[in-house]
Amino acid sequence: MYLSKNVQPLFRSGEESGIAKLSDPTLIKLSIGNPPNEGFPLERIQKISERLLREDPYSMLSYSTAGGRADLKAAIKAFLNRRFPVVKDEDVITVTTGGQQSISLATQLFCDDGDTVLVEMPTFMAALDTLRSQGAQLVGVKMEADGIDLQDLEAKMQMNPKPRMLYVISDFHNPMGVSLPEHKRRAICELAYKYDIPVLEDNPYYELRFDGEFIPFIKCYDEHGMVALTSSMSKIVAPGMRVGYVVAPGRMGEGFALLKGATDLHVSTWPQRICCELLTEGLEEEIEGLRKLYGHRGRLMYQGLQQHCHPAVRFTKPQGGMFIWVTLPQGTDIDGFIAELEDNKVVVVPGKQFYCDGGADTADFRLSFSLASDAEIEKATKIIGDLTHKYCK
Ligand SMILES: Cc1ncc(COP(=O)(O)O)c(C=O)c1O
Repeated sequence: MYLSKNVQPLFRSGEESGIAKLSDPTLIKLSIGNPPNEGFPLERIQKISERLLREDPYSMLSYSTAGGRADLKAAIKAFLNRRFPVVKDEDVITVTTGGQQSISLATQLFCDDGDTVLVEMPTFMAALDTLRSQGAQLVGVKMEADGIDLQDLEAKMQMNPKPRMLYVISDFHNPMGVSLPEHKRRAICELAYKYDIPVLEDNPYYELRFDGEFIPFIKCYDEHGMVALTSSMSKIVAPGMRVGYVVAPGRMGEGFALLKGATDLHVSTWPQRICCELLTEGLEEEIEGLRKLYGHRGRLMYQGLQQHCHPAVRFTKPQGGMFIWVTLPQGTDIDGFIAELEDNKVVVVPGKQFYCDGGADTADFRLSFSLASDAEIEKATKIIGDLTHKYCK
């Protein structure tokens, strides 16, 4: 049987992601970037669900409008606009099956089969899978300590054939944990206008800032309708809801809505209703709780690395989100290092998995602090640190 060329890269990535290993309860899993169960607003979800099923059952169980319910879209607009004007009058909001689906729809919207998409190097590995499974050719753009390298971005935008889209993560980057400063957000918009290349801004961790000031989304600086923003309820409510959204201007926004409708009509009505109620009643207390939780764990992990790692090791300082990116000196036997970490029951994600070109000469890995207890973070950072002294000469 013939299986399409688009699916071939996905068979490999499933194996490497380490998910199979994670059933061992003695492991310290610093590899998974999932929100912890204790962060879910469980009681509120139960109550809202019971009430709506009792008072308004058919609205939970019937089709909604293709592209999402109007009340949820209005609630998302109010939520996003409460700090900065993000959603403009000409924008269209499409409710998607998580931010993950927005990436897929963006590829369908902007690219024909085989077209080039620019991605950060490294970037979110599931985005690499999604983009590839839509037939995109990926070209990596270098990263700096504060996010995408603008010079390299401009050089890549000038490529022939012309790239059709830039995929960029603006806050608490997955995997690097870094956020773009304001001047880079503005510059990305300028480059998008100059080269007529639309941008998909992916920002699921925005609300999880625990240090520093909130920076407006890239989309806030867009004056010519070139930027679509995607985010979701996964990191502030629960990922199993599968409620995400993409906000995009004018015809671009209509295109997203049409593609969502053509793909699967809409996200299940039940979670749409629940998320709408949660947003309308307010989620500030829950989000504040998550910021405290992640802030505590992030700082503890950072301090542990500072205390134990060899001075040649570099790691990012998280101001939000759930990731720290650790870079060992070039030439370090990173495969040996990560294998030895696993022998010591600490699981991390090898950096290579986040590079669209395979990251052959890289020596880095991603740590997530979202699920680990204090004791696990302290133990794991000591093990990681001790091992860096063995590997960094
Ligand atoms: C950068 C980034 N984008 C998108 C997603 C997808 O999230 P969801 O589909 O649950 O909204 C994730 C999930 O981890 C992510 O890290």
